[in-house]
Amino acid sequence: MAERRIFSGIQPTGRKHLGNYIGAIRQYVEGQNRGEAIYCIVDLHAITVPQDPAELRERLHDTAAILIAAGLDPERCILFRQSDVVEHTELCWLLGTVTAWGDLNRMHQFKEKAEQQRELVSAGLFFYPVLQAADVLAYRATEVPVGDDQRQHIELMRDIAERFNARFGELLVVPEGRYPEVGARIMNLQDPETRMSTTYGSEQGTVYIVEEDDAVRAKVRSAVTDSGTEVRRGPDKAGITNLIEILSVVRGVAPEEVEREFDGSGYGDFKSAVADALVQYLAPVRERYAGLRGDEAALEATLAAGAEKARVIAAETLADVRDAVGIGPARA
Ligand code: TRP
Repeated sequence: MAERRIFSGIQPTGRKHLGNYIGAIRQYVEGQNRGEAIYCIVDLHAITVPQDPAELRERLHDTAAILIAAGLDPERCILFRQSDVVEHTELCWLLGTVTAWGDLNRMHQFKEKAEQQRELVSAGLFFYPVLQAADVLAYRATEVPVGDDQRQHIELMRDIAERFNARFGELLVVPEGRYPEVGARIMNLQDPETRMSTTYGSEQGTVYIVEEDDAVRAKVRSAVTDSGTEVRRGPDKAGITNLIEILSVVRGVAPEEVEREFDGSGYGDFKSAVADALVQYLAPVRERYAGLRGDEAALEATLAAGAEKARVIAAETLADVRDAVGIGPARA
């Protein structure tokens, strides 16, 4: 097994935006250089809240195309669709038997999502974190790059792995979460106190990865700032702080360097520079996306090849787990 095995999952819902790109997708791309990288588009997680079936398939293709356009190389990583590898659901059940009900009952994300449901809070939504644990543990991954909002889910999967190992022998790897550094939290441009997100916050304040140059420029130009004039970070300057951090990430320089460069310039000039840099950053991704998204057969072929590779690894773990738990015939 590779020394470092990186695994992460991404939901095939919503239109992917700059927050997803900087907070997660960039880490996935970089992961390909640091170890064996495995990325899963989690359609089984998506259906824990209502989805239109046809729409779900569209969004899955969107997500696959975005990931490849952003730099995931199916030759250098394993990119697959969760539902193509049935081992995830089997391991989910098995891990459910070593998961404390009380722990699931304390999950913040469950509570938040449950509150948003109008008709049904599904048991699947309650079990969501167990499926997430199965995703990672099936590959004996060592490292999980995720957003800050996933800390509780990562802690839970570590507890599940430890409890499993204590009961059945050291079969599972206890993974480490890898969280983006400060500054990688991109805020809504219209409401810089809240995270950029497709579920909350204004459309005008959300920069999508696949977005026309003019729209990107207009959104940056109309970003909410403050009544001051100085381009520097500060607690009372959430909007400018966010733009400084965006520019620093896009250019790959420290935020201090951005502050130094724009010392003495007005907000207008600064915003123009951010807009130009963002357009330059996103345009190539959008162009590659357009080419990839149109060929669904090719996307499906890529996902099928990824699933085949993933299945080999997951099936091996499942054989060990089934044997240790004592289900099915004893192994020869
Ligand atoms: N719950 C994660 C999110 O909403 C997505 C996810 C599913 C995931 N399975 C995973 C992330 C496994 C990391 C590892 O972002």
